[in-house]
Amino acid sequence: VTKRILTGIKPTGTPHVGNWVGAIRPALQLVDRHDGSATAMYFIADYHALTQVHDRAKLADYTYEVAATWLALGLDPERVLFYRQSDVPEIFELAWILTCFTPKGWANKAHAYKAALDASRARGEADLDAGISMGVYSYPTLMAADILAFDTDLVPVGKDQVQHIEIARDLADRINHQYQQPVLKPPLAVVGEDTAVVPGVDGQKMSKSYDNTILLFAEEKALRKRVNQFKTDSLPPEAPKDPSTSALFQLYSAVATKAEAAALAERYRAGIGWGDAKKLLADRLDAELAPARARYAALMGDRPQIDALLGIGARRAREIAGGVLDRVRAATGIGARR
Ligand code: ADP
Ligand code: TRP
Repeated sequence: VTKRILTGIKPTGTPHVGNWVGAIRPALQLVDRHDGSATAMYFIADYHALTQVHDRAKLADYTYEVAATWLALGLDPERVLFYRQSDVPEIFELAWILTCFTPKGWANKAHAYKAALDASRARGEADLDAGISMGVYSYPTLMAADILAFDTDLVPVGKDQVQHIEIARDLADRINHQYQQPVLKPPLAVVGEDTAVVPGVDGQKMSKSYDNTILLFAEEKALRKRVNQFKTDSLPPEAPKDPSTSALFQLYSAVATKAEAAALAERYRAGIGWGDAKKLLADRLDAELAPARARYAALMGDRPQIDALLGIGARRAREIAGGVLDRVRAATGIGARR
């Protein structure tokens, strides 16, 4: 039996090198590793992004940028069902049904909601809930619908999302128990332990929230300029340097081969100027990304082509979700005619 692998990508920003190393590259490798033994579904979670992005132009742009990024980096829409969440209305019908089975206490403890509470606390809000929408509160229910609508077996995610997958699993169990039949398939989270956390130009975790990102498809000149902003210490060029404490080295290792990283470590210990180290990193990133950058530019210049590809994925996704929803309606008695 072939397993179904599914994951969602939120279009909340222009993709950066951290997104590639931490999410896109491992997801594409997973497809290669399971070729033949699994079907993969990767989708743009635009309705999840709507919990954060309320600027119409930005939401639309991020959606195209994220789609073009995955396609440019090698997602093959013949092998991976690739679609927009918002093009599959069955997900939202299932989300409501799941909402009716979600204990409110689960939502109180969910990661997305608790992160929003932490942010309110950090801003010193008197009422921590004041700025938090029902969308954020219901985030795990929509995510459970994304997963359960397709009889998903495996959900590759980062550690912070594991709890949301467990909620999906618990919801499937609850409904199956309530109706005493296998209505929904309980999924499992798959956490890639070996995915590196990539540092940004200030040495902290690269994140759009810290304004320290290296955008994946900046033009070569802009890429080199950004890499030159990498924070380094004031050691003179000839001084030996410790690769294990260098964010620049960490980023280089995340994109280079093991042998290349070992060679750079050797040069660190022998004494390398920061200017030279930055040039090596910029060269490596540029060599790695230049072909994808050209594909990205072509796709972004032809949005109807992106729409067409996502549209094909959406049609196939709707067929699968429609079958699951028929099962759920029949089990619950919704829409029954006699
Ligand atoms: P950001 O931190 O820029 O807001 P997101 O939270 O949108 O990024 O992350 C999207 C995906 O990219 C997630 O799977 C996340 O784990 C991964 N990711 C983001 N930043 C990094 C990073 N610096 N290193 C590794 N993976 C990252
Ligand atoms: N919540 C996920 C994130 O923040 C994105 C997501 C939405 C998702 N729906 C999903 C991931 C379904 C896996 C399965 O990154």
